[in-house]
Order: sequence, then C-alpha cells, then structure tokens
Amino acid sequence: MHPITQAIRTQTERTGEMEHSSPLFLTSSFCFDNAEEMRAAFADENDDNIYSRFSNPSVKEFVDRMCALEGAEAGYATASGMSAVFASFMTFLKKGDHLVSCNAIFGSTHTVITKYLPKYGIEYTYVPANKPEIWKDAIRANTKMIYIETPTNPGLDIIDLEFAGRLARENNLILNVDNCFATPVNQVPIKFGADIVLHSATKWIDGQGRVLGGVVVGKEKMIHEIYLFCRSTGPALSPFNAWVLSKSLETLDVRMERHASNALYIAQQLEHHPKLSWLKYPYLKSHPQHAVALKQMNNGGGIICFELKGGLESGRKFLDNLNMFSLTANLGDTRSIASHPASTTHAKLTEEERLAVNITPGLIRISVGLEHRDDILADVLQTLDKC
Ligand SMILES: Cc1ncc(COP(=O)(O)O)c(C=O)c1O
Repeated sequence: MHPITQAIRTQTERTGEMEHSSPLFLTSSFCFDNAEEMRAAFADENDDNIYSRFSNPSVKEFVDRMCALEGAEAGYATASGMSAVFASFMTFLKKGDHLVSCNAIFGSTHTVITKYLPKYGIEYTYVPANKPEIWKDAIRANTKMIYIETPTNPGLDIIDLEFAGRLARENNLILNVDNCFATPVNQVPIKFGADIVLHSATKWIDGQGRVLGGVVVGKEKMIHEIYLFCRSTGPALSPFNAWVLSKSLETLDVRMERHASNALYIAQQLEHHPKLSWLKYPYLKSHPQHAVALKQMNNGGGIICFELKGGLESGRKFLDNLNMFSLTANLGDTRSIASHPASTTHAKLTEEERLAVNITPGLIRISVGLEHRDDILADVLQTLDKC
C-alpha cells in the first residue's frame, strides 16, 4: 500500500459502537481487570496502555500514520515541535559530546543549542547550510550528531540529504533532520540516510493553526530511547491534539500539492518584481540549490522568501499594508501568512547577529495558503506598491 493510503487507512481499532471516524480517547489513564494484568503491563510484558504520558490510542494512531509517511519503524509524539527537538538532543547527547548543526535553524532550536546544551556540557559547532563541502572540518572525535533543517527556516536553503546521510554514516554519527518545512509527502529524509526525523506538527501537519504538536520518528531502537526519556520527563502529546493532527494527515497530501502549486505561481509572478532585490523558492531555477531540491523534494513547498529593497522600514510597510494576509507567528495554515523576522521574531538580536543567521533587514517570509492564487498575488502586489 502507498504511504499516503496507509496514512488515511491506518486507524484505531473499531469499538463496539461501529464508528467510521476514529474515536477520541480523552483519558489520562487506563484500567485493568485484575492485579496480574496490571503487574504484567508495568513489567512491560505487553503493550497495554497504562497512562497517557506513556501511550494513548489517539496518539498511537497519529504516530503510526506519521511512521507510514516517513518510512520509519517507530515514533513518539510530543506536545510541541520544540519538545521533539529537545528530546532528540537530550536522549542521545551527554556531557562532553559535540553537536554539528547547520547555522540556519528555527530560532528556539538555536536557543536550545547555544544557551541550554552548553549548560549540560554539550558543545556545538555551526556549519553554513549552503557550504556542505566544509562540514567535514567541523567533525571532532567527540562529535555524536549532525542536526539539520531542510528547507531552512526562514532562508529556504536546501541541504543535500544524500550528502548529509553519507557524511553521518562515514563518521558514525546520528543524522537528525527537522522535516517540518517539507512534510513527509514532499520529502522523506530516511530514504537518504537520516536516523531520526522530527516535526513541528503545529505547522503544515495540522494545517489550520489549531493545535501544537510534535513527533520524532526513526529506527525502533533509537525511538525506544526517546520514549524512555519522554515517559519520565513528560512532554507527551495530548490525546485531543493527536486526534486533530491524525485527522489532518488524511488531507496532508492534497493540501500540500495546492500550497506548493500556489506558492510556485506566486514565486514566478514576483521573481522579477522591481521592489525586490531577490526572491527564493526551491522550485525556481534561480534558487542556488535548485538541483538538490529537484532531487529530494516532490515539490517546492509552501514557503517563499524575498528581500525588500527598502530594508527594515519597507518590511514594516509591507506588513502594515496587507489586506488579506494574516500577521501571526505561525506558518503552514490554510490562510496565507506574512512575517518580517527583523522587526518581530528576531528583533532582539543585533543586526550583526541577525546577519550571521541570514536574517537580512528586508527579509519577508510568506506561508502561502489555500486561498485562490489570484487573491494571494493581488494582496502582495498592492502592498509592494506601497513599500
Ligand atoms: C522548522 C521548525 N522547527 C521547529 C519548530 C518548533 O515547533 P513548535 O512551535 O511546535 O514547538 C518550528 C516552529 O515554528 C519550526 O518552524
């Protein structure tokens, strides 16, 4: 069966009510008929549910569907994308270990790597996302993991997964990939050698901006370690959020196709606009890693970024004059969203710090929604006129 069919048809076992849609198991714990059954469950002699911090049928359905899409043996779902990122670091890294990470990563991941991992004696080296040829120089005797995002947030650099997989294998390192921007219907990092793949399910997977969630998938043995860490530390996904996210996976493929076709159209129309100094979209020939995108992605995804000629002030004007777009700290929604990192998410950094992570003053990130493409384009064009 195709993974997309599996993601639609994998379902919690039908109850005696003969429901068609999956029921929601909104419960914190599960009952046992007798002491022996309870003992056996606690002794890990079977897969019986005990407590929803450990497992829950609604969460299991979401995880099983994600594993089908990512071609993974096992998974564990977390309360947010950040708890998935944190669990993947804390499970496999210890004092004295070294992490190699691409430098263009989501802001909170950057904070975890630079502020919190060093508190536990875990060192890191950032490598440029667009210069994989120099990554080897960053690997040391104590390096344990390579961490990457592709496409990167918000700069849309594309990292060659085949290259990263080979580098990790040759140096006996764990390759950990944040696949949030592409989603598994567009890109399957495990095929290229990733050991762990994680997501902020809050974005495209939910797709309608309703719930927070995260998930880590990979080889069974490694996921078991993540499960043991999370079972004790408590970042479990709520059953309600899992139920919402699991339903969303049934439409992920069709949604992403439209997000991507809308985004490609908008990118093509704006590429040579006189108010922009550059525009990046993975499926445009002008993207510096276009060939890599074609190799590992089924489409260009739903995010476009570009640089406004007028810098910081133009960025503010761009946001202020949008009529339809939402100004909100999320992406991957049915509704188009615009953000200007330099005046919002990255405003506390100095200009030098922003430039070091490729946040230029006029950088705009657009999450292209499912509205009619003509309306999306019209809103961008009219605000560009005023910038
Ligand atoms: C690429 C990427 N990874 C991780 C996260 C963190 O996810 P969450 O907000 O669900 O904790 C985000 C959030 O924007 C993201 O864009």
